[in-house]
Amino acid sequence: MADTDREIIAVADTAEMARAAAERIMARIDGNGGRIALCLSGGSSPKHLYRLLASDAYRSRIPWDRVHWFIGDERFVPEDSPLSNMGEARRIFLDQCAPALNIHPVPTLAANRDDSAERYARALKSFYGANEFSPDRPLFDLVLMGAGPDGHTASLFPGDPALDERARWVVGVASAHVEPFVPRVTLTLPALGSCREMLFEIAGGEKRAILTRLLNGETLPANRARSIGGETVWLVDKAALPEDRRGQ
Ligand code: 6PG
Repeated sequence: MADTDREIIAVADTAEMARAAAERIMARIDGNGGRIALCLSGGSSPKHLYRLLASDAYRSRIPWDRVHWFIGDERFVPEDSPLSNMGEARRIFLDQCAPALNIHPVPTLAANRDDSAERYARALKSFYGANEFSPDRPLFDLVLMGAGPDGHTASLFPGDPALDERARWVVGVASAHVEPFVPRVTLTLPALGSCREMLFEIAGGEKRAILTRLLNGETLPANRARSIGGETVWLVDKAALPEDRRGQ
């Protein structure tokens, strides 16, 4: 489906979405013979993908020693809380499959969300090996994203000054606009955008209203997120697509 600087790929349902996302991740892994950095997301949509990556078919294809796993946003809760985004990814697949040193959670045992954000930024900079992004050397091979019912992405909510952050890589967010109403820690648009591919997963009939607004070009956070110099791809399922965009 044609769009400005992003590709929109329609898939039948959440199972096909997970397969498409897994294959795109495999293509990024196969295209990089060195150290690979993947940035995961929270929410419910990626859980299908996480289960698939743990299945024999994918588990045996992933060079686990070379892949590092980050998270694009986190709820400011302990990692063993059911609300933790990285905690959920660990429970579903990372703890069974990935070396512990390759899992990079947001340190939510920090004193507060801002301290946690600073510590995660330091960890990202140390992994990247520089304090500034070079456009020709993206931080991540692939960044997974979702879009919330208010158009937020990661923990960047409509109207929040964090959306305009240009210098910091990670910031604390005092309150979320949607459940769970806990403080958040989120990567900023420049950090999320430092990737070869930014891959959104948007699925389900409850997403149709916000997807319609996003496809109409409203200035909402999910519409402001782009890979800087790489590809931006939206996987959307039939249930989420507005009727006039189906079959395109
Ligand atoms: C979070 C997320 C959030 C999520 C979207 C979409 O912490 O909740 O990272 O940004 O990706 O809200 O979530 P769903 O996949 O549940 O629709």
